[in-house]
Amino acid sequence: MLNRIHSLGGYFHEYQKSVSDPEGFWADIAETFFWRKKWDKVLNWNFDEPKIEWFVNGKLNITENIFERHLFTHADQAAIIWESNNPNEDSRILTYQELYEKVNQFANTLKTHGVKKGDRIAIYLPMVPEASIAMLACAKIGAVHSVVFAGFSAQSLADRINDAQVKLVITADGSYRGAKSFGLKSIVDEAVEKCSCVEKIIVLKRTGESTNMIEKRDIWWHDAIQNESTVCKAELMDSEDMLFILYTSGSTGKPKGVVHTTAGYMVYTQYTFQNVFQYNQGDIYWCSADVGWVTGHSYIVYGPLLAGATVVMFEGVPTYPHTGRFWEIIDKHKVTHFYTAPTAIRALQAYGLEPVKPYKLDSLKVLGTVGEPINAEAWHWYHTHIGKSKCPIVDTWWQTETGGMMISPLAGITPTKPAYATLPLPGIQPMIVDSEGKELTGNAVEGNLCIKFPWPSILRTTYGDHERCRQTYFSTYKGLYFTGDGVKRDEDGYYRILGRVDDVINVSGHRLGTAEVENAINEHPLVNESAVVGFPHDIKGQGIYAFVVLERDASTHDPEKMRDSVNITVNKVIGAIARPDKILFCTALPKTRSGKIMRRILRKIAEGDVSNLGDITTLLNPEVVEEIKKAAGF
Ligand code: WT7
Repeated sequence: MLNRIHSLGGYFHEYQKSVSDPEGFWADIAETFFWRKKWDKVLNWNFDEPKIEWFVNGKLNITENIFERHLFTHADQAAIIWESNNPNEDSRILTYQELYEKVNQFANTLKTHGVKKGDRIAIYLPMVPEASIAMLACAKIGAVHSVVFAGFSAQSLADRINDAQVKLVITADGSYRGAKSFGLKSIVDEAVEKCSCVEKIIVLKRTGESTNMIEKRDIWWHDAIQNESTVCKAELMDSEDMLFILYTSGSTGKPKGVVHTTAGYMVYTQYTFQNVFQYNQGDIYWCSADVGWVTGHSYIVYGPLLAGATVVMFEGVPTYPHTGRFWEIIDKHKVTHFYTAPTAIRALQAYGLEPVKPYKLDSLKVLGTVGEPINAEAWHWYHTHIGKSKCPIVDTWWQTETGGMMISPLAGITPTKPAYATLPLPGIQPMIVDSEGKELTGNAVEGNLCIKFPWPSILRTTYGDHERCRQTYFSTYKGLYFTGDGVKRDEDGYYRILGRVDDVINVSGHRLGTAEVENAINEHPLVNESAVVGFPHDIKGQGIYAFVVLERDASTHDPEKMRDSVNITVNKVIGAIARPDKILFCTALPKTRSGKIMRRILRKIAEGDVSNLGDITTLLNPEVVEEIKKAAGF
């Protein structure tokens, strides 16, 4: 395979080249793709506006690089092996040829329903092959997909639809999750009541539950594709044409739509997929993420399919119908590469070794983790009991905004250390700065993680609000992309990600803004105000701790019932993933004289570290600190 690094020496060599001649380095890699027209210039950039363009004036279609580029060699190879939520339902296998035809057919369907290049399409689907088909069909005709995780509430979905002015929504009647199933179309119906931009809804039949189909607006997927051809001409896209929008939480306000464009994202996701996982033809790769997150976009759909890999896709949850389900799937499909989140490992580790024992797991070659720091204990468990001490673990650090993996070992090549993402991938130039923005050089330093040079899949903007992109990522430290993460570089130059340094919490690998959760809680009619902080959680990594001040006349309500009722509100506004793990009612929040909530104190209480709360005498209301401490059990 082209551009494959095979040794540690090779890595250092490639890394050096990527820093001394980034344009030459990426041009060589881009050469291996299929272009309708080559680029005029490799890179234009400044981090002040910011403005970043890769492969300037190149023309291509990303789906031609998945299909046409590979069909000669592996038309009959499996592209997707799908495993149902229900172990008794047959797996589905789609070869590259079959996937190609389904993508073409659905692309034609979208065109028939008025979708044109540049239109935004929302995808709100369970983990079924049609999710990949829908994304690729958009890419084929130049429509911009905005996939929304199917666990988000109607209100969250409506916000995302309106922000991007979505024309058409693709959903399913319902979704299975473990022993339960729930309606998706009904959530879409509720959402689009608030969205005048939506003209059509295409509905995949999955659970068979009854849904209310509105004439002229709603169409069943199976009806819509019926008379469509399986031949479709790919739209000619510019390198910098938008490929997708993906919403993600930040420290302020509503989630923002991170924008990725075509060529740079394509080159980078395939390159990192091949090198980090050291994937070889014939290997079976499984990433357990949901396509609703960036991990699903880059490493279930684009990266592996661009590389011509075979990808396992799983609809269900790790604990249904039993807690050995992941391991059963690995044996069943002879998975060689398994990529999951530390939170899943910790959750399964908690069931002990019994659920692992019945499985051989001897097909495995490489293990990966993503989404949050992995603690040494979980790392060792994964390494010993799943990888049988013979599979390298790639702890991959990256973000929605980075599009692809940034700091990560290359499997079997980079010596690993538990809890370390190790070394930057070729093309990635990290810089550690202190709070004043001064670079901390040399090894054995700790500070804020920035990147000083663009890589091909860096975000280009936040949809509809470029200034927000500049402010969030490019204004904290002049001339640098700021990640929001704290990091430590050790004596060997290895990077260890310490977690967010902003008001973002990482719950089970999902990113949530504290302000976003507070806004949701505050929608409860009996809530006066609230403050949300993260706290260490054994399984989730971080849990959500909410300090809530009720309206005066609500203080007599039963606290248990109030908690349930606040949870229901959060469920409704964001979704179950944002439900607080702990809610503590108090009469006031500790505030400075200028009225700012002292989160530092609340964070300490939430962490259970109350011995030294620092100076509280400058507070407007120091007495509430005692009250809160007491209520929290100290
Ligand atoms: C944040 C990005 C990357 C896809 C999934 C999450 C944290 C991510 C690691 C890792 C420590 C990690 C960071 C980052 N994070 N991977 N290997 N070790 N922390 O994407 O939702 O955009 O979240 O996840 O804090 O900033 P995301």
